[in-house]
Amino acid sequence: MESKNNLSRPIKTRLSKLFDIEYPIIQGGMIWAAGWKLASAVSQAGGLGLIGGGSMQPDLFREHIRKAKAAANKPFGVNIPLMYEHSPGLLKAAIEENIDIVFTSAGNPAKIADTVKSAGIKWVHCVPTVKMARKAQDAGVDAVVAEGVEAGGHNGFDGVTTFCLVPQAADAVDIPVIAAGGICDWRGFKAAMILGAEAVQIGTRFAAAIESSAAEEYKRAVVDSNDTGTYLAFRTIGPIRIVRTAFAQRIQRAEYQGASAEELHQLHGKGRGRLGIFMGNGDEGLFEAGQSAGMVSEIISAGEVVRDLVRGYWEHQDCL
Ligand SMILES: Cc1cc2nc3c(=O)[nH]c(=O)nc-3n(C[C@H](O)[C@H](O)[C@H](O)COP(=O)(O)O)c2cc1C
Repeated sequence: MESKNNLSRPIKTRLSKLFDIEYPIIQGGMIWAAGWKLASAVSQAGGLGLIGGGSMQPDLFREHIRKAKAAANKPFGVNIPLMYEHSPGLLKAAIEENIDIVFTSAGNPAKIADTVKSAGIKWVHCVPTVKMARKAQDAGVDAVVAEGVEAGGHNGFDGVTTFCLVPQAADAVDIPVIAAGGICDWRGFKAAMILGAEAVQIGTRFAAAIESSAAEEYKRAVVDSNDTGTYLAFRTIGPIRIVRTAFAQRIQRAEYQGASAEELHQLHGKGRGRLGIFMGNGDEGLFEAGQSAGMVSEIISAGEVVRDLVRGYWEHQDCL
């Protein structure tokens, strides 16, 4: 019989069953941070690790998939943002490598529905609004990530918060909802489940974990952030939440001075994510991170993050 005090026992929801994982804790597939090392560490700990394909060309993506397969005998998946030129190549590579869990984001899921469905993939799409959640359900996804404006990285234009989006999305669709944005510890985890989610997707805290391929300067900046430590940049041309580095301040100044869309596109330029997240250059690059950075206080292993969330979940059963 399972002990009542076993603080590592499985947490069962429709999503832990769908993905065949112990805990409904998903590590967001993040550009420049989520390679095979991070994804397999999370999966090995009982969560679901996702390789972030957005910053990889298809050949490198295949290499990460193969390494993750060799490193962990637990389920893992991939994240493919649909907005890039190389996105179709990433999807093709994932299918050819027999990946059976694919998270997509930043694009129209209907366009790839036939390809994904005929490959028999468990498919999740990330949405910033209820309307998009309904559209994703209509396209045939198995679940949606409802991601609020607190989240690190690319955001929707409407700025709906996780606290308001998750319950409305859960009411609007029949498929399970995964909450994302601002979740860092057991409190956010439990709150998300109470709001109607059946899993959480966490980005920022995992981006600052030991196995993340983000630069030390990035991880340190996350740990050093407080509640006001991030800025929602490029609101008018495509919002991205970033740490308030020197480059973030340059963007903020340009925006407050009324820079045109063209000037902002120019300021954004190319390769800023790599320069910031991967190379650690906060003067010229973007440190994509969410408001939860204010709650990340140390750089620890991804497995320890998963265990910390699970322990807190079971220790506070009085809350749920
Ligand atoms: C550094 C970084 C890179 C990210 N890159 C991606 C990405 O490539 N595709 C994607 O769907 N989401 C991406 N995200 C969003 C995460 O997957 C996740 O949904 C989000 O970080 C959750 O909010 P949180 O940061 O408050 O935990 C990124 C987030 C961060 C912090």
